[in-house]
Parts: sequence; structure tokens; C-alpha cells
Amino acid sequence: MNHISFIGTELPKPNEGWDFTDSQPDPLSAIHPYPAKFISNIPRKLIKDFPPQKGLALLDPFCGSGTSLSEAQAAGIPSIGVDVNPIAVMISRVRLSEIPAGVLSVAEQVELIARADLEPRLPMIPRLNHWFKPRVQLAIASLTGAIEENSVGGCKELLRLALSSIIVRVSNQDSDTRYAAVDKAVDAEDVYRLFGAAVKRTVKALESRPARLADVQVIEADVLTIDRRNIERPIGLVVTSPPYPNAYEYWLYHKYRMWWLGLDPLAVKEREIGARAHFFKGRKSHTAQDFERQMTSVLGMLRDVMVTGGHACFVVGRSLIRGETVDNAKIIADAGAATGFCEVMRAERVIAASRKSFNLSHANIKTETVLVMRKGN
Ligand SMILES: C[S@@+](CC[C@H](N)C(=O)[O-])C[C@H]1O[C@@H](n2cnc3c(N)ncnc32)[C@H](O)[C@@H]1O
Repeated sequence: MNHISFIGTELPKPNEGWDFTDSQPDPLSAIHPYPAKFISNIPRKLIKDFPPQKGLALLDPFCGSGTSLSEAQAAGIPSIGVDVNPIAVMISRVRLSEIPAGVLSVAEQVELIARADLEPRLPMIPRLNHWFKPRVQLAIASLTGAIEENSVGGCKELLRLALSSIIVRVSNQDSDTRYAAVDKAVDAEDVYRLFGAAVKRTVKALESRPARLADVQVIEADVLTIDRRNIERPIGLVVTSPPYPNAYEYWLYHKYRMWWLGLDPLAVKEREIGARAHFFKGRKSHTAQDFERQMTSVLGMLRDVMVTGGHACFVVGRSLIRGETVDNAKIIADAGAATGFCEVMRAERVIAASRKSFNLSHANIKTETVLVMRKGN
């Protein structure tokens, strides 16, 4: 057992073998931006070290862009993912499904139809003119309309994902992580060109997968509402990275993507665990106890869907809530102990400097914890 205790204010030291400083980006993770995603090496190592028995599935209750589901698929293991964010669900579904037949020619047709639509219907989006040039707005609207009306069944999700992937690039937003409006010299032509390129890039990345794809189910839901009736297979392994309280806002990162695709980012914000907006000062402001309650509920659900002896692996860091450092791994380990799990491994890994949102360097927080628990009888 590799256990490091958390004494007083002293932060734990990293362990060897979990940093993967030489990791190469996975081409599948490039199909769409997603914040704070796993580097593939982490779920790969957890699947290798704690393999589920044959016939059992892997579950990621906070699947995000589907990195652990993708690693399960590469190992021939069926998987189930849950996420409250519809963009996450769309990425995971496309990433794990068959390439829809004829998608490249459907995309070309859609582009032609969109280019010919000179008066597309613009959706009601707050501050649209601040973030998008008028001609860019019309080009995006023409593509969303053409995808909706002209793409055959299986192609629609991939085309919507490709369009979603270029939204920040064609907006006035400086970058995915910088919310300042700048003049980027983009025009309608760039929207059509980048859309076509995104479809081709997605198809190429999907072609790098194994020929036989393992079964997968991706559920769009608040995990706190999930129970055994929603999970179609017995679970032998859980590999997940839950949202950290007060550390990130996934709904905000994808806000304009959701508006353009006719989805409601504010409904996602309400249900998103840990979203910073819930921690602003006020009467109903969330605390570490809310996270404790939420994780106890998730572990209760895991206990119900996992087989005895199965492993639940969490990768989680610390948070800063109103000046206090909160050890989220300890909260999850305690919730696990209270719901019938026993801890079998705990390791610290260095958070890559590039994951700035999670690298809470101002609080001297530079590592995160890999926590593995086994389900008892
Ligand atoms: C750290 S990210 C997971 C990233 C993922 N490991 C990957 O590689 O892309 C945490 C995820 O939890 C999701 N989440 C937050 N609150 C949730 C809730 N109530 N139910 C389900 N998912 C939720 C967020 O949308 C986000 O995708």
C-alpha cells in the first residue's frame, strides 16, 4: 500500500510513476477542446493495474470528454459514462461510436446548402454582437440549420460536434481560457472552411481506433439522479475524475457552444457540482460539506452498481474555498469508508503546469491524488 498521510498544513509529496511527463497527446482527445481532461496514461494505468473481470464494464460517473471510456474501448472493455454537460456527452458519444456512413459527403452537402442560405434564422443569444461578427453569426446559423434539416440520422451528432469545436475559434473570444473580446479577423468563409476541416480531422482521429469497438453507453444526466436502473451492466471498475469544488466551470467554458446548438448552459450550471458560481458569498453559498454530501451520494450509487471486489479509482486534487485548503481526496475516502469501500492505494501526482485551471499555484497546490478503493461485501 502506497499511503501518504496529510498532516497539518504540510502538503503531500509526489510519488513516482504517476506523472507521465513524457505523455503524448491522444489524437482522439483533439476532436474537441475540453478542460481539465485526463491524460490518457492515467486511466490506461488504472485499467492495467485493476482490470475488471471479463464481462464486467468500466463506469466513469463524470466522463467529460470520455478519456477513460476511450481507454476502456482500446482494452476491449465495455463502458458506461455519465455527464451533466451535453457537450461532454456529445464528445464522448462521437469518440466511441462507429464513424457514420457517408459522413464526409453529407458534410459537403450540408456546407453547400448552408452557403446558399442567405437569410438563416439567428437564435436569441445574449451579447451575440459582442462575441460574434455579423457575417460569422450568419454563417454559423446557416450551418446549424443545414445540419438540423439535412444530415441523415447518424451523421448529425458528428457534424454538430465539428461545428461546436470551432465556435471559440470563429468568435471574438481571445482563446478557450481567456474571456476577452479581441479582433481576430475571421469571416464567414473561415467558418465554412474550419467546419469542413473539423469534420475531416474528427473522422481521421476516429479511424485510429481498434477495428472492433466495445459496447458503450453515455448518459446525459446529473449523476446525483442516477441509480442502478440507469446502469445497464454490472460494473467491475470505476475510473473517474470528479469536478473539484470551486475550481472550474465546465458550463461556462462551453456556454456559447451550447447557445448555438440550442442547448441551455444555465440549466447545466445549476446542476454542475463544484461550479465556482455556487461558491460566491451569499445565503445559499456551497461549502466543503456540500461536496461531502454529493460524493457520499455518488459512492452510494457506485456501491449499488459495482460487483463485490471491484475497484473505484478517483483522481482528485485539493480546492481553495474561502481561503481554506480542502482535501477532496480525504472527503471521498471518508465517504467511501462510510459506504462500504476500503482504501487500497493512494498516490500523489504532479499536476502538469499546462493545466493552469487546476494548478492552484497561488495556494501552493501542485499535486493531485490518485485514490483507489475496493468494494467490500
Ligand atoms: C474533471 S472533469 C472530467 C474530465 C474527464 N475525466 C475527461 O477526461 O474529459 C469533471 C466532469 O464532471 C462533470 N459534472 C459536474 N457536475 C456533474 C453532475 N452533477 N453530474 C454529472 N457530471 C457532472 C463536468 O461536466 C465535467 O465534465
